[in-house]
This record gives sequence, C-alpha cells and structure tokens, in this order.
Amino acid sequence: MLSEFLLAEMSRLGAQGALPLHRQLYEALRRAMLDGKLGAGERLPSSRDLSQDLDLSRNTVVAAINQLSVEGYLASRVGSGTYVNDNVPRATPGRTARSSGGQAASPQARRLSTRGQALATTYCATELEVQPFTPGIADFSAFPVTLWQRLQNKHWRMTYPDMLDYNDSGGYAPLRRAVADYLRVFRSVHLEADQVVITTGTQQSLELCARLLADHGDTVWVEDPAYWGAVKAFMATGLSLHPVAVDEQGINPSTADNAKPPRLIYVTPSHQYPTGAVMSLPRRHQLLATARAHDAWVLEDDYDSEYRFSGPPISSLEGLDTDGRVFYMGTFSKVLYPGLKIGYLVVPKPLVAAFKQAHYDLNRPGQMPVQAALAEFIEMGHFASALRRARQNYGERRQCLLEALKPVLRDTPEGPSISGAEQGLHLCLRLPPDVNDHALAQRLAQQGLTVRPLSAYCLARSDLSGLVIGYGYAPLADIERCGPLIAAAVRQALGVS
Ligand SMILES: Cc1ncc(COP(=O)(O)O)c(C=O)c1O
Repeated sequence: MLSEFLLAEMSRLGAQGALPLHRQLYEALRRAMLDGKLGAGERLPSSRDLSQDLDLSRNTVVAAINQLSVEGYLASRVGSGTYVNDNVPRATPGRTARSSGGQAASPQARRLSTRGQALATTYCATELEVQPFTPGIADFSAFPVTLWQRLQNKHWRMTYPDMLDYNDSGGYAPLRRAVADYLRVFRSVHLEADQVVITTGTQQSLELCARLLADHGDTVWVEDPAYWGAVKAFMATGLSLHPVAVDEQGINPSTADNAKPPRLIYVTPSHQYPTGAVMSLPRRHQLLATARAHDAWVLEDDYDSEYRFSGPPISSLEGLDTDGRVFYMGTFSKVLYPGLKIGYLVVPKPLVAAFKQAHYDLNRPGQMPVQAALAEFIEMGHFASALRRARQNYGERRQCLLEALKPVLRDTPEGPSISGAEQGLHLCLRLPPDVNDHALAQRLAQQGLTVRPLSAYCLARSDLSGLVIGYGYAPLADIERCGPLIAAAVRQALGVS
C-alpha cells in the first residue's frame, strides 16, 4: 500500500537526520514515483487523505506536493486531482545504493553520500532565489562601488608579499580591531581584538564552531522554525539536530528537550530568524543557565542587529554571559553586500589559539588586501555612513510594507498578526494555523511575488502558518505597488476579501 511505503520511507529518512517532515514526504513520494509504486498518469490520493493516512498536517502534505509539482513530477488537473506526470523517469532495476536503503537510486543519489543527498535535497536553489520580497537580503545595489574600487586599488598598489600569503592570525589586524571596537560599543560584546576571527561569513563561523566544539553525532539544539543556513552547516558537520520550539520570547526548551542534552545551542536572540521574536531578558538568563547545566556552548548569530527601527535597543546575549560559553558571530553581508564574503566570530579567550590554528588548517584564509580595504572603509567612517543611509532606506520600505499590510490586520482581529518588524530586513505575517501558507506563497509567486511560507522553516512543528516577507531588497516603488497585492491575497486566503 502506498501509505505504508511512504511511512516506511519517512521513518528511514527521519532516522537519518534533520530533514523536515514536508521534505521527508517529498523524498518518499519521489521515491515511490521513481520506483514505479506510483506509475505515470496515476492519480495521487488527495492531500486530505494523505494527511489522515500519514498523520501529517495538511500544510506539510501540500508543501511536499507543491514542490513535486514545481519540479515537474506531478501535475494538477482542475477539478480532478493531482497526477504523476508521464515523463517521470523510472530507476534502473537491480542497482542498489546505500542512500536508499538498498533500493534502486537515481543517478544523483548514486554519486552522493547519504549526507550529500540530504544536503542536496533539503531546500533547493529555487526556494533561495533572490527576488524583491525575499527575506534577509539587503539592497546591495546601494553599495558605494566607486569608493570601494578606489580603496581596493589603493590596497592592491600598497600590497606587500605577506599580504598575498595565507593568514594564520585570524585576519587582518586593523580589521579585527575595527570589528572589536564596533561590537564593544554597539553590541555590548565583551572582547579584545585578539578574540576576533575573520571568516568568509556566518556559514564558515558556524562550521568552525561545529567542527571544533562538537563531535560527529553530538546534539545541537536549533530553533524551530530555523535558519536554513545553520541547519545545513550542522548537517554538513554530522551533528544531530534537535529542534526546540520558539515562542514570542525566543527559544523555549521544554523538559523533553532537556532530556536531549545539547553540546551546542544555536540561537538568533536579537531577531529570531524567521519569526523575528526578540529573546526576553529572563529567557536570556534562563538559556545561559541551561547551557551551563548541560555544559553546552551557545552560538549567537547576530545577523541583522545593525537595523533596529523601533523598541528599546537590544544588546548581545554574549554581553550577559559571565561564563565564557557564548560564541558571537556577525556578518558584513547585510550592510555591505553578500558576495563580499566577510564575517567575524568572537571566540572565548581560552580557545582563541585553537580556533586560529584550526581555521588556518581547515580553511587556509587569505584575501588580506580586501580585508585591508574594508578596515579602511570602516576607519574612515564609510561603514557608518552606509549604515545610516541603509537604515533610512529600509526604515521607509518597512513602513510602506506595514501600511500595505494594515487591511489584513484590520478586518480580522483575532487572526493574523505581525512579528519581528522592529528590526532587520524582513517581517513575519503570522496567520491562523489552518491557512495553507505554501499554497498562498505559490499563488503570490504566480503574480511574480516571492515571499516564503513560514511553515517551510519548521523542522518538527506543524502549528505555524504565515508569510516571511523581506523589504530590504525591494525598491520602495515595488513595495507600494505589490504590498497591496500581498494583502489582497492574504485576505482572500482568510476568506475576508
Ligand atoms: C539568520 C542568518 N544568519 C546569517 C545569515 C547570512 O550570513 P552570511 O552571509 O555571512 O553567511 C543570514 C542570511 O540571510 C541569516 O538569515
């Protein structure tokens, strides 16, 4: 029976690691088609039946079906249901692959490790496409290219052979000093410049921490819903992901979570990604106490704290830590441009030498002339000006989006709400759990508007629905024009149009 096969496949995938449920179902359905258990032209059971048979939420089922439709495995016929497309290839019988528990596997599956396959199939590139409303993307078209070019030229002219070598000291010293000065003043981080390790961004900071602080199979607590980049970094380093639910005060470990003691705890306390929740002061103290009780390390990802538009300023979690167990990380992606690939990791003092050594051995860091140009960019006040301009720009865009979304909140008082609009480059429009946010996002995509369904970020939860909407990348005119379209689609989904 199809549902038995799907349940068995999902249970196998679930045991392998951190694939969210909708992705497990996607994989299981895909396998059923490739193995011929669901033949070309065959009708898929309805999402309602699948949801009942597999004990999954409708959102989870619809998300999996939508993704398979986007990839061409399935096609919907109006009024008649969803069918397997005629051109779905069948796996060659008789071949086996480790990755599919001894069943025949696609050519891609045969080339990849189990981990590689999980990495390649958890959230695909189309979901990460940069579009005007994609969350978390800064408007890098505003970056002062000419000035940057001038600084780069200057530092390339001045460069001496050492600057062209790998670097084993954690990065260009003046840049590390500039970062330390900024973090001390604006983020209340306790640090000396020597504790700053320049990395190629948050991904590399996370991977370094995962490799140096945890062993293969150790448990990492991640927020649920979660930042995909962090999930992938931990998957890639062989850690066992344990999702911990987030509420309006941030990560909220239960007794059951505490029975899964973490080695690492990954959090985004100043603006939880993607819900935007700000971790409250009591919750911060509680988290530090929990980390102490488990002797765990806390990884604080402070990815967009530069943009605070309303509410009291929030300082770092690291600033409250008296125990030296918080690793603080940040990035230049959100103020300058993502392709710059420069971020920073603040390492507790006793581990600085080990981190610099391992960073050198694993990553062979370099790019000293670029780091030198960035140091001067900061020292000469250009970073502060870029930040001022960006805050002004994003503040206007944010306000415009909030205005556009007002009709959604006005007529449906007990339903939707907005979270996380005080800071950063995105906000989260929370919807009642029975609203199918994948279908809503898909409808908007058909109008050329890419917003992300909140449930797509969930690892173990099925109680969240909403839209994660970016306003950093979209020009003001686009928000003015398209914001009302988003509002209208949401009202329609809520049945109040
Ligand atoms: C929570 C979070 N952390 C980190 C990053 C990116 O950091 P980087 O570009 O340095 O890898 C993002 C990007 O959107 C993010 O959302």
